[in-house]
Formats: sequence, structure tokens, C-alpha cells
Amino acid sequence: MSGCGAKHLVLVGMMGAGKSSVGRVLARKLDRPLLDSDELIEQRTGRTVREIWMTDGEAAFRELETRTLVDALNDDEPSVVAAAGGVVLSAANRIALAESDAHVVWLLANVDVLIDRVKNGAHRPLLDDDPEAMLRAMHRDRDELYRDVADAIVSVDNRSVHDVAQAVLRCAG
Ligand code: S3P
Repeated sequence: MSGCGAKHLVLVGMMGAGKSSVGRVLARKLDRPLLDSDELIEQRTGRTVREIWMTDGEAAFRELETRTLVDALNDDEPSVVAAAGGVVLSAANRIALAESDAHVVWLLANVDVLIDRVKNGAHRPLLDDDPEAMLRAMHRDRDELYRDVADAIVSVDNRSVHDVAQAVLRCAG
């Protein structure tokens, strides 16, 4: 974990917090590549997150998530990383974040905002059964873990993608 001026800018947070959309704006502003975990996993495997999850199971997906994070952190070229929502579940990933030259920003969202944002998306297997209950449980279980890895916390509630990106840059620029 590093302060502002670190090589990589890493966005963490729950699904629906806006890591990918804020990451796209930041990558453009900073003229850096965006390394988006789910996108990279899909490019590398030629399969969707849902296919991997359903066929190989969560553990296999989490391994790909870890490999993608570690590769991104080890990349010499400074980047913006939209980390997968579940990346903080692994202690090894949390240590990798802490030991890397990365500024980690937690995009913090109220759980009701998250529920509203993800309710129409069909690509997240974890939300297949009871999305609201699942998101509340994940929010509760992961709060401490995101806090643990974060160098900075930016609230996304009632803010546009552009405003969130500006808030991230205030520290990371
Ligand atoms: C997950 C988040 C998803 C995706 C998978 C699992 C999680 O990514 O990796 O469905 O455990 O939080 P996003 O955070 O980009 O939605």
C-alpha cells in the first residue's frame, strides 16, 4: 500500500460501485491503460465470467482473479486497475496490494445504491438468487476488508462518474 504518486492506481469496492466506469475516466485523464479484472479474465480465457463460474466453480474463478491482480500489480507500465469486487477476500491478495507500489482507493457505496444499480444486470452469478440479500451480506462481510486495503476512501453516493473520478484524482494525481 502506498500513498499518492504510486505507480498503479487501484480501484476496489463492491459490484456496482463504479470501478469500471470510473476507471475508464481515470485512465483517459491520466493517459494510462485500464486493467479491468473481469474484462482481462474474459479476454485471457475466451469465456465469460458467468461461464467460468458455472462450469469451473467459484474457486477456479478466484484463482484467475488473483492471477490477474498480481499481473497488473507487477506490470512496469503505470496503470489504472479496476480490481474485481471479490479481490479482498483472499489474504494473499490483500498482502499483494499492501506490498505493491499501488495507491488503493475504495469506492464506497451505500448498499441501497448498489442494489438499485445492479438489479437489472444478468452477468453476475453471485446475484442470481436473491440479489438484495446477497449484496447486504457481502457489504457487511467485506466492509472491513476493503477498509483494510484502502489508502483512500471515496464515497460514490449521489455523485456522477466524473465527480467520483475527480475526487479520486484529488489524492492520486
Ligand atoms: C464479484 C464481482 C464481479 C465478478 C464476479 C464476482 C464479487 O466483478 O468478478 O461476479 O465477488 O464481488 P465486479 O465487481 O466488477 O462486478
